[in-house]
Amino acid sequence: MIPRDFIQTLLGRVDIVDTIERYVPLKKAGANYVARCPFHSEKSPSFSVSPSKQFYYCFGCGASGTALGFVMEYTGAGFVEAVHELAQQAGLDVPAEAAPTGRRTETHLDLSEALRRAADYFRAELKASPAAIQYLKQRGLTGTIAARFGLGYAPEGWRSLSHVFPDYDSPVLVESGLVIDNGEGKRYDRFRGRVMFPILDGRGEVIGFGGRVIGPGEPKYLNSPETPLFEKGRELYGLSQARRAIRDSHRVVVVEGYMDVVALAQAGVEYAVATLGTATSAVHVQKLLRMADQVVFAFDGDQAGRNAAQRALEVALPHLVDGKQVSFLFLPEDEDPDSFVRSQGADAFEALLGRATPASEFLLETLTRGVDMTRAEGRAQFLQAAKQRLGQITAPALALLLRKRVAALAQVESRDLELLMGKAPAPATLQRTSRAPARAAPSSLAERLLACLLHHPELAKAEGIPGDEAVQSDELALRSVAEFIRDQEHAVTLAGIVEHFRGLPEGTFIQEALRREFSAVESSPMDQLAVLYREGLGRLSEGGLRRTSKKLLDLAHERPLTPEEMQLLQETNQKIQRVGRGAATGKAP
Ligand code: UTP
Ligand code: MN
Repeated sequence: MIPRDFIQTLLGRVDIVDTIERYVPLKKAGANYVARCPFHSEKSPSFSVSPSKQFYYCFGCGASGTALGFVMEYTGAGFVEAVHELAQQAGLDVPAEAAPTGRRTETHLDLSEALRRAADYFRAELKASPAAIQYLKQRGLTGTIAARFGLGYAPEGWRSLSHVFPDYDSPVLVESGLVIDNGEGKRYDRFRGRVMFPILDGRGEVIGFGGRVIGPGEPKYLNSPETPLFEKGRELYGLSQARRAIRDSHRVVVVEGYMDVVALAQAGVEYAVATLGTATSAVHVQKLLRMADQVVFAFDGDQAGRNAAQRALEVALPHLVDGKQVSFLFLPEDEDPDSFVRSQGADAFEALLGRATPASEFLLETLTRGVDMTRAEGRAQFLQAAKQRLGQITAPALALLLRKRVAALAQVESRDLELLMGKAPAPATLQRTSRAPARAAPSSLAERLLACLLHHPELAKAEGIPGDEAVQSDELALRSVAEFIRDQEHAVTLAGIVEHFRGLPEGTFIQEALRREFSAVESSPMDQLAVLYREGLGRLSEGGLRRTSKKLLDLAHERPLTPEEMQLLQETNQKIQRVGRGAATGKAP
């Protein structure tokens, strides 16, 4: 575990311009440096590096990050590796152990530490279990691959983990999902007699496990529950190990199972990752499309696999980008990538990848399945369904081409289709190709304020931070970023903020705010943003107060309010009036 403090020190010592220049030639342009974006192909440079923010941003594809993020994205290095790389450039030694700081960080550290210690224990136990070794061998795995994925074995026995955790009663063990509490004070290991697959996050830290029974037994796979560190809809199994191969091959294959990932790697197909027993999420799709030009979903050749593909397609539609390919590979009946690659080999598997069905084809196939396209009624039904799906596609060229295909299939004129869709004709949206990435929904107020803060952290000190009326998750994220900035002794850069919140829930909001608002905020003058920020804080606080007031009024309809509640209601209403007046005169509350 690398201390967060050290990351800040490191960012203070390296210059993002020097770092990026090692990989990509930069040209000075005003206060910034520009280049042709290394993350998507383009003719004119839209990749920009800001020395003052210590941050890069591509106005073409939306890629963005710090010096650390750049090394990870560009070289495919994991977090730890990238930290070492940068530290070496800056002539710093990476400290080994973290001193716990801050309330939340502390639980994170504890959880992390517990999971890491468990992973070490399981790995050692695998070496001591001939049965488990035999099982992995029989599934075609070598020791090298087992080590690469950190595979382990959780022995039989109810409290084996007490060997490594003398304090078996620690709440952290339950919180981490390693130990189950039966509610009557009895505790026992969740994973018993199973081959263990550690799940790593983007920094290469263990955040959970999947455990497979050896031989028959139910359930076949047992997974860690969700914890503050482990959110299944965000993580992909094997990503840490696959990073480099994904970067080199520009492609990533998404499979269903742990064993599929490991078996593919064993066969030499190292760019595979798996969803964790959950459906593909929008976060998954966005992550994958950022990393690779070609994303292939390879699902099992059964009905469950088809359903999973269907879901993945629906989730992917709004995130498709022109110039990147998402496709679907359906394996033969009763095969999964593991069985296929073991019987047919890596070349055969890669040949299948090359013939995968593009998302657009799969979409049309789905829309026409079971529909009688020879009859007007059938084609009307098709158009109805197509309208909804096409509306979700924001990639301009793809949307245009699909509209043409849909019109042809439905035997209508393109112009009539546009009328039916009730949307602006495609050419107008086409102009967006070279601009910032499409935005799906409008940003929330908190998100826009967050964007202001990210570009001008000094606003938190000059204009204040959100009050405790903030309740929604985006408002809470804004508040904790503002608090972080306020509490720093020195001026903090955009890079410092991004790295401080890497892997924490706020990190997601930060990424989202940058993705949607970067260009707008970047091009606005500072004084204008200050006004926007100040007024926004007022509106945010008014919204929070109004929610509190409404809640109390609703409550008053159900029962008499307590004296404390009455007082709170009065105070809240007074504050609302004051805020209202403040806004009218353009002053913050
Ligand atoms: P599969 O049932 O397809 O298993 O589950 P598999 O990957 O082919 O496993 P092997 O080859 O028999 O070892 C695919 C994924 O679904 C989740 C796991 O993430 C698994 O990798 N799963 C499956 C569970 O979470 N629990 C289960 O009981 C079964
Ligand atoms: Mn399998």
